[in-house]
Amino acid sequence: MNSGKRDAPPVPRALDALRRPLRDLRVSVTDRCNLRCVYCMPREIFGRDFVFLRHADLLSFEEIVRVARQCVALGARKIRLSGGEPLLRRGVERLVEMLAGLRGEDGTPVELAMTTNGILLAKKARALREAGLDRVNISLDALDDSIFRRMTGGAASIADALAGIAAAREAGLTPIKVNAVVKRGVNDGEILPLVRHFRRSGVILRFIEYMDVGSTNGWRLDDVVSAGEILARIGREFPLRPLEPARAGEVAERWRFADGGGEIGVIASVTQAFCHECGRLRLSTDGKLYTCLFAGEGADLRAPLRDGEDDEGLRRRIAGVWARRGDRYSQLRRDASGLPARKIEMSYIGG
Ligand code: GTP
Ligand code: 5AD
Ligand code: SF4
Ligand code: SF4
Repeated sequence: MNSGKRDAPPVPRALDALRRPLRDLRVSVTDRCNLRCVYCMPREIFGRDFVFLRHADLLSFEEIVRVARQCVALGARKIRLSGGEPLLRRGVERLVEMLAGLRGEDGTPVELAMTTNGILLAKKARALREAGLDRVNISLDALDDSIFRRMTGGAASIADALAGIAAAREAGLTPIKVNAVVKRGVNDGEILPLVRHFRRSGVILRFIEYMDVGSTNGWRLDDVVSAGEILARIGREFPLRPLEPARAGEVAERWRFADGGGEIGVIASVTQAFCHECGRLRLSTDGKLYTCLFAGEGADLRAPLRDGEDDEGLRRRIAGVWARRGDRYSQLRRDASGLPARKIEMSYIGG
């Protein structure tokens, strides 16, 4: 190095206790959803009398942007808006516009993405694109309408979801990824119909192992269809070849159809944990930072934000949370000791 000469301080990249860099910020913008997926917000729990957060409890767009800016300063290069269903947050296009201008201190762009169920995309895709959203991931677990309704609680149809995907494509929110959670005995018969539908379409279909996230979905290991089994079922009809990861810390294992039919993926968080490269920090709807999808507690940022903490203090606070982070829940799942008794719901922490 240049000894004797004072270099400009390096761009700080926050590393956690396991030396993992902060890469992605996932922001939950609402805890509400217009669907009731059996694996996420089962109707028996999230019924008419379920109490969601009040508007005053939510972080404002200005507060979200302040947190996001400091996460970018600490190294994050992807921001993903999620929920609940992010398109239910009134004016979310304005938040997209406010976030779209963020750049790393070295000038690198920050990718801005959203995970949505797609039902409202037919109305909103174009405005989101114009506001600066780069791409969307859309949850869709079945093509058969009655199975789709059974998985999602019955309030929307498969036609609504497909219209959302078409609108996203037209608006250029690409590459589009479709996420399908597989629950044994409910929608595992839809694996091949989904593959046939999305092959050669440019949409990247990814199958997700059903996870024990939250405390309300009644998860049992028997309900999980492993990524290995999913790939074997697909491979019998369409031979597959492995692909290299697109970037470090990616959750999906990528595969391509041997005949050139495009790419698919599996997200094997139950059978092949990917904690060793996990660089995801989550900001809940009411302003708590969670260092793991399976965390029991988060660090509150809303109170300091509302008590007038400046950007420097906010950055130090976030850096401290990241520096203490040692989470690797999926790797430890088999040894249940030391895991939080009550886990946070996915609809609140943002997938
Ligand atoms: P890409 O940038 O497109 O790769 O997005 P993503 O896969 O990171 O985001 P998406 O919201 O589409 O997440 C897909 C699924 O991956 C989620 O449904 C979760 O099931 C799973 N997932 C995402 N992040 C984590 C994580 O940190 N831990 C675990 N265990 N699963 C995760
Ligand atoms: N297991 C796996 N994936 C889940 N998702 C929600 N709940 C679960 C679960 N229990 C997925 C949704 C969406 C993403 C944000 O999280 O399908 O694609
Ligand atoms: Fe809503 Fe997504 Fe949860 Fe389904 S998985 S209930 S669409 S937040
Ligand atoms: Fe990251 Fe926690 Fe998921 Fe592991 S279980 S990949 S540490 S969020």
